[in-house]
Amino acid sequence: MVTLLENPLRVGLQQERTPEPSIIIIFGASGDLTQRKLVPALYQLKQERRLPPEVTIVGVARRDWSHDYFREQMREGVEQFGTGIGSEEAWQDFAAGLFYCSGNMDEQASYQKLKQFLAELDETRKTRGNRVFYLAVSPNFFKPGLRNLGAAGMIEDPIKTRVVIEKPFGKDLGTAKSLNRVVQQVCREEQVYRIDHYLGKETVQNILVFRFANAIFEPLWNRQFVDHVQITVAETVGVEDRAGYYETSGALRDMVQNHLMQLLAITAMEPPNSLEADAIRNEKVKVLQAMHLADIHNLERSAIRGQYGPGWMKGQPIPGYRQEPNVNPESLNPTFVAMKLMIDNWRWKGVPFYLRTGKRLPKKVTEIAIQFKEVPLLIFKSAAQQTNQNILALRIQPNEGIALRFEAKMPGPDLRTRTVDMDFSYGSSFGMATADAYHRLLLDAMLGDQTLFTRADEVEEAWRVVTPALSAWEAPADPSTVPQYEAGTWQPPEAEFLMNRDGRHWRRL
Ligand code: BG6
Repeated sequence: MVTLLENPLRVGLQQERTPEPSIIIIFGASGDLTQRKLVPALYQLKQERRLPPEVTIVGVARRDWSHDYFREQMREGVEQFGTGIGSEEAWQDFAAGLFYCSGNMDEQASYQKLKQFLAELDETRKTRGNRVFYLAVSPNFFKPGLRNLGAAGMIEDPIKTRVVIEKPFGKDLGTAKSLNRVVQQVCREEQVYRIDHYLGKETVQNILVFRFANAIFEPLWNRQFVDHVQITVAETVGVEDRAGYYETSGALRDMVQNHLMQLLAITAMEPPNSLEADAIRNEKVKVLQAMHLADIHNLERSAIRGQYGPGWMKGQPIPGYRQEPNVNPESLNPTFVAMKLMIDNWRWKGVPFYLRTGKRLPKKVTEIAIQFKEVPLLIFKSAAQQTNQNILALRIQPNEGIALRFEAKMPGPDLRTRTVDMDFSYGSSFGMATADAYHRLLLDAMLGDQTLFTRADEVEEAWRVVTPALSAWEAPADPSTVPQYEAGTWQPPEAEFLMNRDGRHWRRL
């Protein structure tokens, strides 16, 4: 655990920090994540002089690549998906710290070879035995990878060695617990960094600053003033070329259990006592513990699944999910999920939290909307074009910002009101684009700051919340029972009913 002194105010107001010289070992080095996200983020960090010159990256994968071939692949990644290499000199300097070591995650011999190679690099690159092992591999390799690292004595030192684990962390509560047990057998929780890249987004970190660095919002942030909360994470992309993974995952596992639960926990948690990693994570766990589906005896009143059918987007015909390559034509797998959750605590009792996420929706947009209660007596009833509740909308992406919606008098002799927005936008206020989430998360893992990583109990609680829906949807069913929505439209009608039944409606985004 980092102390407050080692971990200076870090949400949104981060001070410049530089990690110790270390080696980052990326398992899954030939994969997309390494080329598109991890190495471009590390390159950007190096360019910004946030990494010490000794920092070294070792890619590990089964393929028989040379150091130079690995460097070429990573250069392509930085040029295509990152900020570009800048100058040739800068790239050469970075590339001198890039190495490749072929290995099989199932074989202990590969770890012995890697261990030897890392020891040599410690001598030449002066990395002092500091290691960050990044498991950017398919989840089937998490357990063997952890066990083999443990057996090779590579993660014994809780100060110098860390393990970063990509999502998905388990495929249900049972498998998440079993993976956590393996983690506990081979290392300490303080060494483990479970990734949820949503926590690395600037706008998500800003929720904490917005809530706890301002005096005016927190008094309203409760059941007395809030009618309900809506969280939308909409994507325009379909399953892409990930059917193999997605068919076993679906929107509930891929998005709800992790990204949406984290957005919800940060929105609903109590103020932490400090910015220490565990102070924040304790509050998130507490709110997750109090959370449950609105009606577990009547699932369709609290969880709706959907699947995109054929449709049109940007003038192009789009195949339905079941027509996508490598997808079972009778698949029951949801590409859309809507949920109504309740939180049984003093702050939120009785306030519904509605979540929705889906692929092939009309827009890529992530938003948290706090919808406030109506005024007790609307004296302007005849003047209002419509009765609109105040809404505070936290725009997570794109067009990052925050808008407060309220009623205003329209200019003119007649008393007419209209809904207007008071808007804060990152672009115009800060004049800079927000960095990719991995930029922040990699730096934090190197610094030993776990605040933006999920703890074992947090992951398990999030699985517990979604378990009733997961179990019901895993059961064999007639494919015609899975609600369909046309690609390029917002949701299946069943998801509309989830809201309309309560006299509410989804926001038009
Ligand atoms: C990933 C999911 O975790 O998040 C993807 O596996 C999804 O299916 C992605 O597309 C969305 O992330 P972002 O940052 O683009 O909203």
